[in-house]
Amino acid sequence: MIRKAIDSDKETILKFCQNTFSWGDYIEYVWDYWLKEDNLLVFENPSPVGICHALTSRNQLWIEGIRVSPNHRRKKIASELISYSEKIGLENKITTSFMLIDTSNTASLNLAISLGYTIVETWKFYSLLPKTISNIPIQFENTIDSKLYPMYIDSWRWFPLDNSSIEKLSTENRIISSPISNNFSLSILTESEHFDNTLIATLFSKNHESTSNILSYLQNLGMDRKFERIQILTKEELPNHEGLEHKLTFHLLKKSLV
Ligand SMILES: CC(C)(COP(=O)(O)OP(=O)(O)OC[C@H]1O[C@@H](n2cnc3c(N)ncnc32)[C@H](O)[C@@H]1OP(=O)(O)O)[C@@H](O)C(=O)NCCC(=O)NCCS
Repeated sequence: MIRKAIDSDKETILKFCQNTFSWGDYIEYVWDYWLKEDNLLVFENPSPVGICHALTSRNQLWIEGIRVSPNHRRKKIASELISYSEKIGLENKITTSFMLIDTSNTASLNLAISLGYTIVETWKFYSLLPKTISNIPIQFENTIDSKLYPMYIDSWRWFPLDNSSIEKLSTENRIISSPISNNFSLSILTESEHFDNTLIATLFSKNHESTSNILSYLQNLGMDRKFERIQILTKEELPNHEGLEHKLTFHLLKKSLV
């Protein structure tokens, strides 16, 4: 009953993935990418009534985009899709699985917890509007303390900031800071693989003034590089800043597969 999705499933699936949340849904924008990335799974009964994407990357399994048609819920369809995804992870010798779930999505949190996932962190998503601002005191970092800055986000997937990723990111000038005091804020910049012209900044906000400088730098970068969207992901509550809007708060959940 579970198989890999094919192009022709798209129409049927998007019919029940339009108004999933109060703000709509994003499946229509990522469908083509997820199909290419492989392991976009469909539950059919007999037509497609559920989906999820199982991405295996850098020794991690990311289970994302779980959707079950409203008429077919509470029949363990999502549970089966998740278990199937975990088997794919294990076949690829991956031992840890991750999910992101909005803090207000009780159904999905209950689902994940019922399958052995635990909440490990809580993150906030802010949007930031591009704007021209000059003379912002920013510097590029080559080395960082991974105890203070342990991970970064790439296309909404969390990766450790180990030596090889720090080297790669710093060579590309993707690690920026605004060193106002000893305890300064730092951000890691990546571009979305799924959405065009979208800048994603992991932000460690340690000091409000330093954070505001980083936000201004990102707004200016957004104008210069013609980014349509700037997405800020952070664990901290950010200071008020013109053009900055808190969108949602979500949990990072984790499960060991062995
Ligand atoms: C969340 C969602 C995927 C669950 O799919 P589902 O196939 O109905 O889930 P399951 O039948 O496998 O549920 C397994 C368990 O999860 C929990 N659960 C699922 N839906 C729930 C709900 N509406 N309220 C409370 N708990 C719920 C229950 O513990 C359930 O076990 P039970 O039915 O024996 O009580 C589905 O409601 C959905 O598509 N929601 C909209 C999209 C969404 O939120 N996706 C997840 C984004 S992270």
